Amino acid sequence: MSKVAATWMAADVPDQAGRTAVVTGANSGIGFQAARVLAERGVAVVLACRDLDRAKDAVARIGDFAPGADVSTVRLDLASLSSVREAADELHASHGTLDLLINNAGLMMPPYGRTEDGFELQFGTNHLGHFALTGLLLDRMLKVPGSRVVTVSSIGHRIGRIDFDDLQSERRYSRTRAYGQSKLANLLFSYELQGRLARVGAATEALAAHPGTSRTGLSRHLPALMRVGAALAPFQGSAMGALPMLRAATDPDAHGGEYYGPAGLGEFSGPAKRVQSNARSHDSDVARLLWDESRRLTGVSYPI
Ligand SMILES: NC(=O)c1ccc[n+]([C@@H]2O[C@H](COP(=O)([O-])OP(=O)(O)OC[C@H]3O[C@@H](n4cnc5c(N)ncnc54)[C@H](OP(=O)(O)O)[C@@H]3O)[C@@H](O)[C@H]2O)c1
Repeated sequence: MSKVAATWMAADVPDQAGRTAVVTGANSGIGFQAARVLAERGVAVVLACRDLDRAKDAVARIGDFAPGADVSTVRLDLASLSSVREAADELHASHGTLDLLINNAGLMMPPYGRTEDGFELQFGTNHLGHFALTGLLLDRMLKVPGSRVVTVSSIGHRIGRIDFDDLQSERRYSRTRAYGQSKLANLLFSYELQGRLARVGAATEALAAHPGTSRTGLSRHLPALMRVGAALAPFQGSAMGALPMLRAATDPDAHGGEYYGPAGLGEFSGPAKRVQSNARSHDSDVARLLWDESRRLTGVSYPI
């Protein structure tokens, strides 16, 4: 159990001088806030974003909080495997080692759409894009003591099922079901990755986190009525929403295989604490099948 219990806030992020992090989707929302705090604590942060103008704007905003911080950008569109490969190549060229990879980017409940490679948009972006990116960057992390891969899931994982008969929602598309599947996949991936890392004695650990309900741009694809509901709901701010992933990334008492979320009632808001995901997310048979299928679909093999 962690020593700092449920009161963990951004001020608890230890000094991170000398460390390097890649944060996906860091131009907005909770990804931006996590990147900002990491930069303030001395991390050299790479903002991995699909739009470089938005990424550069985020660099400037982080500079307002952390003057002189080492913040750079790489173009990464998780809905395109060729973009994921280009981003990984660029990061290989610029970084001999990486301490943190935060798989944060995502989208929620858009109308039916496909990625460049033909995957359903949410499964393809939220899960497969991060599966590929992690596999391509892991060699830069495996020997780095204390290195961590943190993958952002959601309370919404609880409505998820991995439908191996219709993984890409070709027969039937439900926005909610596809979001739930992608967020359950994030957890199955994180736990399976941790098992594989532990088996080979890697220095890297895999952890997961969720932000409860946080006011961000994530609701932009919701149908109008749900958007109004989301606008009126008492969601916490994005800086609070970033705490669980910051804790998963930096708390010395956090360990591989753990899941962090808000400490408040129902895990909707509050400081970060260790939480539990549902039984389906711990189904190791499903996790292995999903891993094999993700490897087949992305063509990315892991160095472990
Ligand atoms: N907010 C919540 O209450 C909540 C609850 C549960 C889980 N989450 C999870 O938290 C994570 C961050 O979401 P957020 O709430 O901070 O929402 P957000 O403000 O909309 O941020 C999402 C980020 O993901 C990026 N993104 C989307 N598609 C991408 C793609 N194809 N390639 C690369 N980046 C892409 C977005 O880039 P653009 O700016 O270019 O669109 C943006 O930077 C997501 O994984 C989400 O599922 C959030």
